Amino acid sequence: RQLGSESRPLTGRHVLITAGPTHEPIDPVRYIANRSSGKQGYAIAAAAARAGAKVTLVSGPVNLPTPAGVTRIDVETARQMAAAVDAALPADVAIMVAAVADWRSAGEAAQKIKKDGSGQVPPLQLVENPDILAAMCKSDRRPPLVVGFAAETNDVLDHARAKLARKGADWIVANDVATHQMGGEINALHIVSASGVESLPELPKDAAAALLIERIADALA
Ligand code: CTP
Ligand code: CA
Repeated sequence: RQLGSESRPLTGRHVLITAGPTHEPIDPVRYIANRSSGKQGYAIAAAAARAGAKVTLVSGPVNLPTPAGVTRIDVETARQMAAAVDAALPADVAIMVAAVADWRSAGEAAQKIKKDGSGQVPPLQLVENPDILAAMCKSDRRPPLVVGFAAETNDVLDHARAKLARKGADWIVANDVATHQMGGEINALHIVSASGVESLPELPKDAAAALLIERIADALA
């Protein structure tokens, strides 16, 4: 028997999720990346699928299996992620969990950069990547509910409130990566919105994901 609509509250909804890091090439053998494992985003995608949603997961390079019932689109760079997100719209809710690289190399070298023997280091110029979340919030195809994530090492709630305003998201889900290291199994999430802060208890990432999906289903209902 199918589960009832009470336990599958996202039936008929399209949930768009970004997860993982991005890799920004320096040359054919080197890249800029970060410590995101993708685990929290993948757990949220799995929970959304269990709740009955059609789930599109735009994923940076991670070492994780695709959750059951989830359509996964693999990308490497922030610019590829931006294009894949755009192509996946419209959605009822976007949950932007990816740790998008803030900067990329200004000019990807076509060949491997070599040491020239002089001890001189190559000049690595960086340029800012597009802000996928902020652009989505401004677009005319903005989903009715847009949820951003923020990994912070200090002043977690203040930074989250500032991001909420700056990016135009409905919620920012903040986590303290000083106390709960990136790549770990446990998170303590703070859901920050215009109406205040709900701090979830310290939980395994799949339980945190299930609670967040409950909150999202309530907000869409
Ligand atoms: N984000 C994004 N595109 C970017 C950077 C961030 O979509 N180029 C999204 C992330 O997926 C996350 C939210 O924006 O949902 C906040 O990301 P974060 O890195 O915390 O914010 P930044 O504005 O990049 O600020 P910071 O200087 O703290 O890195
Ligand atoms: Ca950032």
